[in-house]
Formats: sequence, structure tokens, C-alpha cells
Amino acid sequence: MDKDELYQTLLDGLARYTGHPLIGDVLRTVSRYPDPNLAHSLNKNQVASKKWLVTELMRAAVPPLGTVYVLGGWYGVLSAMLLNEDQLGVRRAVSIDIDPGCAPVAMLLNRRHVEQGRFLAVTRDMAGLDYRSDRFEGPDGRGGTAEFHAPPDLVINTSCEHLDDFPRWYNAIPAGTLLVLQSNDYFACGEHVNCVPDLTAFRQQAPMSELLYADRLPLKRYTRFMLIGRRG
Ligand SMILES: C[S@@+](CC[C@H](N)C(=O)[O-])C[C@H]1O[C@@H](n2cnc3c(N)ncnc32)[C@H](O)[C@@H]1O
Repeated sequence: MDKDELYQTLLDGLARYTGHPLIGDVLRTVSRYPDPNLAHSLNKNQVASKKWLVTELMRAAVPPLGTVYVLGGWYGVLSAMLLNEDQLGVRRAVSIDIDPGCAPVAMLLNRRHVEQGRFLAVTRDMAGLDYRSDRFEGPDGRGGTAEFHAPPDLVINTSCEHLDDFPRWYNAIPAGTLLVLQSNDYFACGEHVNCVPDLTAFRQQAPMSELLYADRLPLKRYTRFMLIGRRG
């Protein structure tokens, strides 16, 4: 048995034991795209941060959440977690990322949801989105087309530290939109052009008309910050 087979067999067994469909989804995706970045998107810090988000969103927001945009959505892990949580009432998730390598991986990871017309991955710069008039179309799983209408009911951006012009992105979001934002103080990472030193600075960067949650999550090398609220 080679290493691939070994891990495949173990994940297969765990998927059966836990009954959690995401394990099978990950196994299928990593078999087709054996990219170390996919493992990176599921490392313990990433999963802890996304789990924190889902838990606090459940406490702060009133379901159903309708159409959700996940910006900087990477390989679609957060969308998969949200769509797996029936309690949240997410009808549709659109994962938007500027990197064209992300959409095919995210579509495969979320294949179960694609087949129900509930998930779409799109290659776009989040800074150029028009939240009122953009229309996204994806497969409905029955050979037809599902429309992912704007405006979204919830906008999530866990990649705020990646935005070189945060005010331009933030100001384009319609006032009153429900938001979940994460940033961090991991200044040492070269791709992080917009880190914040603390929660106060993050709150100043993203002023909310109604703040439902604001806290920090200390991780091994950095601290992650999260705000849930309505755009001011
Ligand atoms: C490293 S990943 C995720 C990091 C983030 N801290 C998280 O946990 O979700 C950052 C993602 O944001 C994407 N990204 C960066 N700038 C973007 C932009 N302007 N529009 C859309 N996606 C962007 C990158 O392509 C990448 O997939």
C-alpha cells in the first residue's frame, strides 16, 4: 500500500465512522488536486478560525441567511462548512476569489451543493463587485441554470488582511448589509498588506452601524480578529 492509498483508506474509514460528508468531499478533492495549499486551507489554524466564525454567526444572526457571498473564498472550505450547517439556513453561497486556480477546486469540494444549485465559485476581484447589480449564474444540478441573485443577504470576508485598498472595497458594500469580517496581526506574511495590530484598529477600519460581535482568537503565530455587524 503506498502513502496515497494509506491516507485514502484512513479518511474513507473516518468518513464512514463520523458520518460527516465533508470528509468524503475533502478526500475526493485532494485526490484530484493534490495541492499543498489545499491542506493549508484546512490546517488547524484555518479550521479553528472558520469554526469560530460559524459558531458566532449562529449566535449573532437570525436564520435563514439566504444568499451569502464568501469573499477571498479560496478553495471553498468556509462555504462548505456554512452549507453543511442546516441551522443557518444558507440558501446559496457564492465563493469569490481573484485566483483562477481556486474556482475548479472549490466547485469539486462543494460538488454536493453544486448538484443542488446551492454553490458557485467565481473568479473575480472583490474590489470590483457591484453588490446591487452583479448577477451570477451556475449549474442547478438538473442540467439547467441557477441564478445567484444580488444583493447578498450576508457578505463574509476572512481575507481583509489581503486588501491593499480596504476603504474602496468597504465603501462599495450597501449600507446595512450584514457582514462577517476577519483580519489578523500576522504582519510577517508577505501577502498580508492590510494587517491590523488589534481589535480597536479593526473596528476603526470597518465601522459598523450595528455591531453584533467583536473579539479576538489567539493562535500560535498570530491573533485573528472578527467583527459581525451591519455596515455603517
Ligand atoms: C490565503 S487565502 C485566505 C486567508 C484568510 N485569512 C482566510 O483564512 O480566509 C486569501 C485568499 O484571498 C484571495 N484574494 C486576495 N485578494 C483578493 C481580491 N482582491 N479579490 C478576491 N480574492 C482575493 C486570494 O486569492 C486567496 O485565495
